[in-house]
Formats: sequence, C-alpha cells, structure tokens
Amino acid sequence: MKALDGVRVLDMTHVQSGPTCTQLLAWFGADVIKVERPGSGDATRGQLQDVPNADSLYFTMLNGNKRSITLNTKSDQGKEIFTKLIASCDVLTENFAPGALDRMGFSWERIQEINPRIVYASIKGFGPGAYEDCKVYENVAQCTGGAASTTGFDDGPPVVTGAQIGDSGTGLHLALGIVTALFQRETTGRGQRVVCAMQDGVLNLCRVKLRDQQRLTHGPLKEYPQYPNGVFGTATPRSGNASGGGQPGWIVKCKGWEDDPNAYIYIIAQAAAFEGIARAIGRDDWLNDPEWNTPEARLPKLDQMFSEIEKWTSTKTKAEVMGTLNPLNVPCGPVLSMEELSVDQSLRESGTVVEVDHPERGKYLTVGNPIKLSDSPADVQRAPLLGEHTDEILDQVLGMSPDEVDAAKKSGAV
Ligand SMILES: CC(C)(COP(=O)(O)OP(=O)(O)OC[C@H]1O[C@@H](n2cnc3c(N)ncnc32)[C@H](O)[C@@H]1OP(=O)(O)O)[C@@H](O)C(=O)NCCC(=O)NCCS
Repeated sequence: MKALDGVRVLDMTHVQSGPTCTQLLAWFGADVIKVERPGSGDATRGQLQDVPNADSLYFTMLNGNKRSITLNTKSDQGKEIFTKLIASCDVLTENFAPGALDRMGFSWERIQEINPRIVYASIKGFGPGAYEDCKVYENVAQCTGGAASTTGFDDGPPVVTGAQIGDSGTGLHLALGIVTALFQRETTGRGQRVVCAMQDGVLNLCRVKLRDQQRLTHGPLKEYPQYPNGVFGTATPRSGNASGGGQPGWIVKCKGWEDDPNAYIYIIAQAAAFEGIARAIGRDDWLNDPEWNTPEARLPKLDQMFSEIEKWTSTKTKAEVMGTLNPLNVPCGPVLSMEELSVDQSLRESGTVVEVDHPERGKYLTVGNPIKLSDSPADVQRAPLLGEHTDEILDQVLGMSPDEVDAAKKSGAV
C-alpha cells in the first residue's frame, strides 16, 4: 500500500508549479487525474521538444504516475462531466491565471456545494494586493520574492538561480498544504481552500535574507564579502558565493578549471575545521599566528584566506580535494554538473534519478521522488499520453456507458 492510496486528485494544473505538486502526490499513491484541453493539452507537451512529435521532457518529467483525460470544461457537457469529477475526488488542484475556474462557473462556493469534502488547492503568482491579477512565471517569482536581489555578485545585476524555487518550490509548499488539509478533514469532515502564492513561496525560501535585512540595521553583515572593504546600502546585498549561515564559505577553483566550467568545490572553513584546512594546504604557520588563528582575526580577510586555500585546491581535482578534506570533517562539496549527476550511480540506486520508458520518445531520465518513505516507496512511471485514460476514467470513475462516452466525444466535450 502507498501512503495516499484512496486519495483521488482532480488535477487541472499545467506548466511547472502545479504539476510538481501533483506528481509528488501521485508518487505517494494518489490517483491523479490530469484534466487537459482536447487537442492541445498542457502547453508544455509541445514546448522545448527534443524528439519530433513526442511529448517534451518538460512535460514528461513533471507528469509521471498520472492519468490523463481530455475535457473541455467550457462546453456544457464538459461542465457536467467536470461537476461529476469534482463530486468523485478528494482534491482539486489548479494553477491557472487568477479567476480562470470562476470564469468557467466553478467558484469555491459552487465547488463546496458539489463536494463539501473536497480540498481545493491553487497556486497563484501573488497573494491579495496590488498584483493579485498578474500572470507569473518562475523568474518573475524569483524577482518578486526577494531571490534575485540577493543572488549574484555585488558589482553585477540581480541574478536568477537555476533551481526552480518559484515553480517547483511553490508546488512543494502546495503539496504540504493539501496533505495537511486532508489530515484536518479526518477530524472535521470538511474540505478547505489551500492557496500558495509564488511570491510567498520564494520569500519563505529567502527567509535568511529577510533575517539579514533586519541585522543590517544593527551594523554590517560581517560574513558578507562586502565586509570590511565594501559598502553596505540599505537593503540586503548580493552575497556572491558567501555562506548563508554563520560559517565562512566560498567556491574555489580546482585543477582543470581553465577548461572545465565545473571544476570547483565549495568549502566551509568553520572554526572546528580550520586546523585541518590549514595543515592540508600547508599553512601550519596560521595555527600559531594571532593574525589567523581565531575566527575573529580571519573575519576581515576571508577573501585572502580563500585565495590561499584556492592555491592548494587548484592543484587537485575536486574529487581529490573532497577526498582530503572530508576525513578532516571539513564541510565541502564539489560543483557537480548535470552531466555528472545524470550518471551518478548512488542517485540511480536511491531512486532519485530514474530511467523510464515512453511509447513515443523512448527512454528518458527523470528526477524521482526526493522524499523517501520507508512504508511507501515511490514507483516512478512514465507520463501519460494526451487523453490516454479518457475512456477508462469516464467508465471507472463516473460509470458512464460506452454510448454516453461516444456522445461526449462527438460533442467535443472530451
Ligand atoms: C502560468 C500562466 C502565466 C499561464 O498563462 P496562460 O498560458 O495564459 O494560461 P491561463 O492560466 O490564463 O489559462 C488559459 C485559458 O485556458 C482555459 N483552460 C484551461 N484548461 C481548460 C480546459 N480543460 N477546457 C477549457 N478551457 C481550459 C482557462 O480557463 C483559461 O481561459 P480564460 O482565460 O478564458 O479564463 C498562468 O496560468 C498563471 O499565472 N498561473 C498562476 C501562476 C503559476 O502557476 N505560474 C507558474 C506556471 S509554471
């Protein structure tokens, strides 16, 4: 049995943020019914296509373990079928532009009338306020949630990160909201509304930067590269590769960096590990030198410290640096490329990187469930073709006869 066996999700999500959430629920065992517009489906099926006429990796990597039904929820018969599906499901999820479901005639009040036990979960770009009607994509959320203003280097523009903290990050938040609401329903018998704004999700992930904003009013942020030589403004600045916590850290070059853009390693030079680092890089002299042998003494010259460390790391591969520093309890990690991660044996064995087969595009790699449950292991399956399960869902979930299914098809509702 799977943790969410028996939970049925009516999945109106599209693009990335919502599908991330429902894919997680599917991995945990929920029956996720993805509703897509007849003919076209989720726009990502056709975006960034690498194999002609096959669903893209954009789509397939976000929609595993789901069933797909086509349904025009704007047609009269489509609305009837949609109403029956709402009545048959535990969760309804969507991440359309604000108001889309209301415009189809399905307000929260109407949805509750149809099924008072349903959890209705949405992702929007913004919460209530000046921007509540705006459409939002990943990088917009990274900018509006505080990530971009605090990412990058002091002398450069704001930078967005490759981690999809706006889309996948908010999808994760929504999944927690949904299972929490389902848990409360066990007591109350009622569903509830769950809403996550992408701005809020990103800001939540940037919590430490709002911490630093407040610390800034009490003096310079001593772990930032701006200290002591640069100038602090009134807002939390971009911190380059500095560690976000109380321990000094930086990315340093390793052997081969001239040709390999990922020949780098992150090193955290925390006080407890300093002796090990000093000895490893041949700077035993630091250990008796009051200019170096306390964290306070090192703080104003972290840049010098890391450039000394780099003189050593640039003579070794990132694996060699890892091999030397790890036994010394120095927290460090190589910068791993997607190429390296895609062939990493441990990630394959743990089910974090999974190969699945697809009837149109053949084998592809996907990221499996990063949340490991001992009693509910994820069995990662391929994404469905458009409308692959339409007949099966209309029959099994709604009990429609073959004639009724044919009529729905003829009317263009499915
Ligand atoms: C992502 C986003 C910008 C895409 O915008 P978009 O491509 O213009 O798509 P919309 O969400 O506006 O939906 C398009 C229309 O398709 C309609 N539609 C979707 N599925 C349908 C179906 N099965 N049957 C009939 N109509 C359907 C919607 O009702 C909407 O119609 P409307 O404009 O008349 O209300 C927007 O959906 C959004 O801001 N979502 C919230 C934030 C979010 O999740 N962003 C991250 C995405 S990764």
